[in-house]
Amino acid sequence: MKRRIPLPRVEGQASRQAHADMPPGTYEREISKEGFFGPAAMFHHKHPPTGWVEFEGPLRPHAFDLGRLAGPQASPWQAAEVLRNANVRVRFWSTSGPMDHLVRNADGDDLLFVHAGSGELFCDYGRLDIEAGDYVMVPRGTMWRIDAREPVAMLMIEAVNSSYELPDKGLLGGHAIFDPAMLDTPRMDEAFVRQQTDDRRWQVRVKRHQAISTVTYPFNPLDAIGWHGDLSVVRINVRHIRPVVSHRYHLPPSAHTTFVGQRFVVCTFVPRPFETDPGALKVPFFHNNDDYDEVIFYHAGNFFSRDNIHPGMMTLHPCGFTHGPHPKALQNMLAQSKPATDEYAVMIDTRDALEITDAARAVEWAGYVDSWKG
Ligand SMILES: [Fe+2]
Repeated sequence: MKRRIPLPRVEGQASRQAHADMPPGTYEREISKEGFFGPAAMFHHKHPPTGWVEFEGPLRPHAFDLGRLAGPQASPWQAAEVLRNANVRVRFWSTSGPMDHLVRNADGDDLLFVHAGSGELFCDYGRLDIEAGDYVMVPRGTMWRIDAREPVAMLMIEAVNSSYELPDKGLLGGHAIFDPAMLDTPRMDEAFVRQQTDDRRWQVRVKRHQAISTVTYPFNPLDAIGWHGDLSVVRINVRHIRPVVSHRYHLPPSAHTTFVGQRFVVCTFVPRPFETDPGALKVPFFHNNDDYDEVIFYHAGNFFSRDNIHPGMMTLHPCGFTHGPHPKALQNMLAQSKPATDEYAVMIDTRDALEITDAARAVEWAGYVDSWKG
């Protein structure tokens, strides 16, 4: 049996409502457990907690320009891994034209996020159009291939040895953020049936424990004429996500959770109105989300809380230091000139430390740690 230490307390000069009505001239910082769901303390600082002048040692904020990674690659299994731990592996794949083989991930479910391009996904379950902004969840073991109409770049987020689920929406109810009825599934349509006539020898490249094995068939194995069950590839586009907002309270990033894996979550930032209450914070609060490493992939728009970040970049804020808005965004901490944000981004928060691969280090922007210097 265990029980949390019973609090809260208020010490010194402090507001009693998080993210609102801060003592004048102060900068709020939250130290938070359990990814903003657990115990937390809000401090009111005289200086922005990102006002460091030196940062030494391996722990630091990172930014990677994934658009500079080598590509295109014919197979997703050739795509560079950028970040990984025991529960999640993140790769960035660019490809063009039709794949001449099928792939299957035997290590876990894959969540594909289409950053650019368009095409068709052919898989065991049928055919699905894909376009920029789509999330496509591919259950472990599914055979699939892509026929890219325009060159495709995608983030591939593997739930190692586990399955993707939807978050518990709690008080919001099950239809908030996006209704599960909005999830599309592949269809065994005319185009799917037509591709079955492509009956050359087909290879299936299977990834298991990071090794690739190849199974060759003298026929096209995507030859099912039907299926039934409660497992499938599912797709939703970011434009169908309806964000949760409060005009009087800056919600924590965890309010934007869209998919849940084992010991990590995937959240989605989409355009939303700024808070209008005069005392409410209008930018992300400075925080130590110290139970999680935080990754953000910038898909499209104008990233209002960060300078010098463009679409296709990815930041990693490991736990252990405070992060928050860049100085330009901070000027609008309590008064925003625009009515709404204009950003689409994918956040991956992991319970365990992430390893940065050599491929990611090769496209790292080393000056990112100094980008808070205003
Ligand atoms: Fe964060």
